[in-house]
Formats: sequence, C-alpha cells, structure tokens
Amino acid sequence: EKGGYEHFMLKEIYEQPRAIKDTYRGRLLRDEGIIKMAGVEDNMKKFLNADRIIIVACGTSWHAGLVAEYIFEEFSRIPVEVEYASEFRYRNPIITEKDVVIAISQSGETADTLAAIKLAKEKGAFVFGVCNVVGSSIARESHAGAYTHAGPEIGVASTKAFTTQITVLSLIALRLARAKGTMSSSDYRLHLQELELIPGKVEQALKVNDHVKEIAKEYLLSTNCLYLGRGYNFPVALEGALKLKEISYIHAEGYPAAEMKHGPIALIDDRMPVIVIAINRGHYEKTVSNIQEIKSRSGKIIAVVTEGDTTVKGIADHIIEIPDTEEAFSPLLTTIPLQLLSYHIAVMRNCNVDQPRNLAKSVTVE
Ligand code: F6R
Repeated sequence: EKGGYEHFMLKEIYEQPRAIKDTYRGRLLRDEGIIKMAGVEDNMKKFLNADRIIIVACGTSWHAGLVAEYIFEEFSRIPVEVEYASEFRYRNPIITEKDVVIAISQSGETADTLAAIKLAKEKGAFVFGVCNVVGSSIARESHAGAYTHAGPEIGVASTKAFTTQITVLSLIALRLARAKGTMSSSDYRLHLQELELIPGKVEQALKVNDHVKEIAKEYLLSTNCLYLGRGYNFPVALEGALKLKEISYIHAEGYPAAEMKHGPIALIDDRMPVIVIAINRGHYEKTVSNIQEIKSRSGKIIAVVTEGDTTVKGIADHIIEIPDTEEAFSPLLTTIPLQLLSYHIAVMRNCNVDQPRNLAKSVTVE
C-alpha cells in the first residue's frame, strides 16, 4: 500500500501534485474566473463583517496558519491572528461575535484545537474548519468548513496535509479578496492561473530529490541545524525545522532570517548547517545579505533558490533550485526540498521515519 515507496512519508511527499489538484478541483474555476466553495459562499456575510480572523491550530497545521496569515492580510486585508490552540484556550481570550475563527487540523481530532473551537463557539464566534479527515470531530463541531482532500496521511510527519491546507486557505483568501475588492481583477486572474500551475511546479520541484539526497549525506551527523526564511517563507523555515526534529532527532530551529542577528548568529560555526530559503521574490537582497553573514562566520549554507539564480550560487555551499511562482504561493514549492532533506537524513540515520519515537498521528489528549 506504499505504492512502491519505501515509506509512507515519501509516498505522501510525492503525492502532493495530485493532492493539491484534488484540493482545488471543482473550486477553482479559472475559465469562469471564480472560486466556488459552499462553506465560504453560504457564510460570506460572516467573513465580510469580520473584524479579524483568528486561526487556531497545533504543530504543522499552525505553520500553515502562519502562511495563511500573510496570504489573508495581503490578499483580503483582514487582520489575522494565529494562535497555538493550547495557549488560546487557556488564556481567557477575547472573542466576539464579529470574529471568524478558523481551525486547521489534518486529523480533525486534536484535543486542544477541538477545545479551542468549542470555546470560540460559546463566545459567539463563527467557526470554520479546515480538516483533512472527513466527518472528524473538528469538522463536525465547526459551523462550516472546507476539506483539504489530501487523501489519508499515514506518515506521522505531516507533508501533504500542510501544502493542501495552504491551498484551501489561499482559495478562501482569494475569494474574499474578490468580494472585498482588495485585489485588482487582473491580479486575481493571475493568481487563479498561477495556483493552477502549482501541481506541475511541485512535480518539477520533486526532481531535486537525488540532489537533496547527496546533500543529506554530508549533514547526517550534524547535531544542530538552523532554518531561515522571510515573509511567506518564515513559516516554511519553522516547518522545515520541525520536520527535521521529529523524524531525525537532530535539534533544529526555524527563525525569520532577520532575527538571526538577535541571538542565533552566536551559534554559527563551521559545524552548523544553515538552510536558507532565498527565492528571488520579496526581500531577496535582504536574505542574500543574511547568507553573507553566515558565510563570514563559516556556517554551512544550503540555500533553496529560484531556478537560474546566480547570486546565491556564488556564496552558498549547496543550492537547491525550484521553479518560480508568485511569492504568496512559494511555500507550496519551497517546502518540498525541506521535506525531502529531513526524510533522507532520517533514513540515513536509521530512524523510523513513518513512526518517530514518542509521537502519535493524532494528539487526542492535551
Ligand atoms: C508534524 C505533525 C504535528 C501535527 C499536529 C497537529 O509533522 O504531524 O505537529 O501537525 O499534531 O495535528 P492536526 O493537524 O491533526 O491537528
């Protein structure tokens, strides 16, 4: 049932082009120039009247929420707060009837996320669930929602759930942008078109696999690892670090690239691999200067760059090239090599990739 792959995790990484397509199928109607999602359409007033959106989630789903924060604020100009469900629920949070609470959960069974939405409902907020497992508790407790349609995710380390969550949230943000007029119609069409190209680009990004495996060989004995990114790719840095930690047991931390000089830079020496997402969009030059700072302290740089990049190529120890896309959708591509890197390092360290120690697929107790 692993479809010829050695592990479920690898199978699920490779399923992402198909999974993302299934997520937008029937929802993204490019020819008509519309996005159709019943859960959003039926509750448009709630979304349009919302003072803010509060996203609650845990782990990888929380990282998808952070990416969504950038996307919602940019596209739809609605203030977004992203909360760890476990912190939110115990903080006596301020929630009103004008809040829209979006719960993100692959399993739909995470205890803290479920408790957070129950609390939000009691306080009168509108609760929207983004789940993968159909009929799960969070899906049932939500007022409305949208499934990710990623198919069953068996590997404990979440991969295709993450990219399909971002896909669903992008669709919602685009739909709201259209309704609110916060995005020009030409930009809107451009984004619909680009989102439709993502599965093909993910397919292309997956071709880095052999190259990433070679890089993995050089770093499998590392004890620490730093992941850096800016903007939309800051949460991807967090996710890359989480993936490495959970399956290879190497200590890793993700940071916004600019925060490096506020502390983590002290850790950098010639035994510290630093994975930097340095795509040719957004604040590229700023990221390049961060890479130079790492280089001058002898850190080992593994950079994820846009294909054809020449600047970073001259500085980094390794570059991994991925296709170009709109910056907002770049997490769907930049995350691919990071998933593969942690996968190969974990396999080479003889770790149980699909069932890492101490972890469970759904955390149904707090
Ligand atoms: C990481 C991972 C966990 C989950 C978290 C939330 O790879 O799998 O961090 O993302 O436990 O789970 P869901 O999305 O099922 O609520």
